[in-house]
Amino acid sequence: MSDSGLRWRYREEAPRAPEGRFSLEELIEGPGPIELDIGFGRGLSLFERTAVSPGSRIIGIEVKTKLAYKVNGRLQKHDLQNVAILCGDAREILKRAEPAGSVQQVALHFPDPWWKKRHDKRRVIGEALLTELHRLMKPSGALFIQTDVEHRAEQYVGQLQDTAGFTLASDTGYVDANPFNARSNREKRAIEDGLPVWRILATRD
Ligand SMILES: C[S@@+](CC[C@H](N)C(=O)[O-])C[C@H]1O[C@@H](n2cnc3c(N)ncnc32)[C@H](O)[C@@H]1O
Repeated sequence: MSDSGLRWRYREEAPRAPEGRFSLEELIEGPGPIELDIGFGRGLSLFERTAVSPGSRIIGIEVKTKLAYKVNGRLQKHDLQNVAILCGDAREILKRAEPAGSVQQVALHFPDPWWKKRHDKRRVIGEALLTELHRLMKPSGALFIQTDVEHRAEQYVGQLQDTAGFTLASDTGYVDANPFNARSNREKRAIEDGLPVWRILATRD
């Protein structure tokens, strides 16, 4: 297939959220806790998370159509029915998601690969996303963010300190280990290369 044919296929066949307001609880059948993995990239964290917590209902959101399409295909091949993929901008999708107080935990592994000032508006972590996460998360639900960029980590800690309704899990905001026992592709690579990773954990009040 030509490049443009492939791009068309990714765009047309990447799974999308239902139109309008929609229920996260109806995306995957069952009673399990709902987890979000925002910007899952090549998807390792989805596979590792479903292995450690097969009873969870895991919803991955990824803006890149090619990644959403490919990871969805791999999930189907492994018949992993407790993971759902939504392709699109998490800030837009979560604005339409219901019900409030339904999400047990949220992971953002190595978000925001944008460095230029003019790309600031692309950054997923900001007031819009944190407002929706606060609305959707259960009280005491866990929000985990990790990055290999120190100044970004400092920004995320500052944003969480400034956002009412979240409490950082430590005085500094940082924790030593990934609390979800599921590595992302970037995390695995950073560990293998011996690079530092800043890990931030907060709970919803
Ligand atoms: C640096 S990559 C990290 C991928 C993966 N989480 C990992 O750690 O290996 C950041 C990912 O976030 C995705 N992303 C960026 N902004 C997003 C948004 N607004 N909504 C959903 N995904 C987004 C990018 O497409 C990319 O796949």
